[in-house]
Amino acid sequence: MNESANSNPSPLGPASLTLAGHSYSLPVIEGSEGERAIDIGSLRAQTGHITLDPGYGNTGSCESAITFIDGDAGILRYRGIPIEQFVDSPTFIEVALLLIYGHLPSQEEYERFSEDLTRFANIDEGMKHQFEGFPRSAPPMAILSAMLNALSCYHPELHELEDEAELHHAAARLISKIRTIAAYAFRHSRGLPYIYPDPGLRYVPNLLHMMFSLPYQQYVCPNVVRKALNLILMLHADHEQNCSTSTVRMVGSSGANLFASCAAGVSALWGPLHGGANVAVLEMLEQIHRGNITPEDYVKLAKEKESKVRLMGFGHRVYKNFDPRALMLQKVAEELVPMLSGNDPLLDIARRLEDIARSDPYFIERNLYPNVDFYSGILLRAIGIPTNMFTVIFAIGRLPGWIAHWWEQNQTVGGRIARPRQIYTGPTLSDYIPIEERGQG
Ligand code: CMC
Repeated sequence: MNESANSNPSPLGPASLTLAGHSYSLPVIEGSEGERAIDIGSLRAQTGHITLDPGYGNTGSCESAITFIDGDAGILRYRGIPIEQFVDSPTFIEVALLLIYGHLPSQEEYERFSEDLTRFANIDEGMKHQFEGFPRSAPPMAILSAMLNALSCYHPELHELEDEAELHHAAARLISKIRTIAAYAFRHSRGLPYIYPDPGLRYVPNLLHMMFSLPYQQYVCPNVVRKALNLILMLHADHEQNCSTSTVRMVGSSGANLFASCAAGVSALWGPLHGGANVAVLEMLEQIHRGNITPEDYVKLAKEKESKVRLMGFGHRVYKNFDPRALMLQKVAEELVPMLSGNDPLLDIARRLEDIARSDPYFIERNLYPNVDFYSGILLRAIGIPTNMFTVIFAIGRLPGWIAHWWEQNQTVGGRIARPRQIYTGPTLSDYIPIEERGQG
């Protein structure tokens, strides 16, 4: 059962707001880690005003018991457990179950879920034909989003989930099939035959098998690759109310099913300011490697507002000190990249960019540090993942988080459809003019 996501009233008491000579009292609530919020649920009813917060930098959209981030201290915890504790032992699937169900799975729960992942790994043969409808050049993220949505056509019985048993069926199908869909999207882009999932393989080796095996030539996943990809997936598994997760919650708030909501999450993740940054980082490093621009000039360009260039893989809405996921990935990249692909010049360029940026007042004053995407691409490249699949891997990793948030919201008593308001700035009352009276346009 999910832990309840209820906050408490803050011991500091309510906030008071003075507006046009009137005083209003607004409750202040406190979460389990001492984060405080002014509850403005009655603001419009009391005052006739709304709040304005483009980009939602100051807005809590929900209460949640899934993931805790302290951006100033560089802390990230899943259900209370610091991510640093996930380096060696758990598999991505254990972490997925922790996020979705709120506790670490017992051996029996873990095995049951793993067996279902194996059982559900194939997609309907009819669905396979849908891949043929996409051009060879179709971005795998577009295919992934379309195909997750298509899953809802094959599972109408899972559109409404009544209890955890039904959630289990939907979650196991999604987590298993996203891997098959991702691999098929890749095979399609290369014109390669689709490779069926192998029931003898665990989650990560099976994904790589479907991507890289050839008929009669099985891809054998080296242990070091399995561990690295497992870590990447775990570190991406949830990140509270980021753009894609908020999208999943937003779509889910209308009552849309889990498949459709997660498909929307994939679309949100695709953008270069979010999950697509791992591709953008690699493109930036390659551009520098090709000699098109020096690291120094790139950083200079990233500081010029008019250039619209950003130092990709740097900065974060929440982390204003360091991103703990970036630290962990950097350490693993430093160990594994030389082992897997020799001396990768892109790793040297990344180190150089980081050195320049971290000693530059522009980046220091704005608290811009490497984020999760800065080193993940280099690591993915070293383990053989092609660039157009980087964000797809991110999506596979983030899926348990999306499912956990969708379910948490679905279970919230008294939940409302997400429907922000706006401040209208368009024309005031105007008359319709018939077309023949409008003159030349
Ligand atoms: N390069 C250059 N300047 C930057 C960068 C950057 N990467 N990031 C932020 N800034 C500047 C920004 O121009 C602004 O300057 P000023 O105060 O002079 O206007 C200041 O820093 C604050 O930035 P912001 O855009 O208000 O910050 P935000 O919280 O809205 O955006 C961000 C966060 C991650 C979208 C942004 O830092 C960025 O675009 N980074 C590059 C893309 C990237 O790496 N994205 C991955 C994010 S982590 C994983 C994920 O979410 O998927």
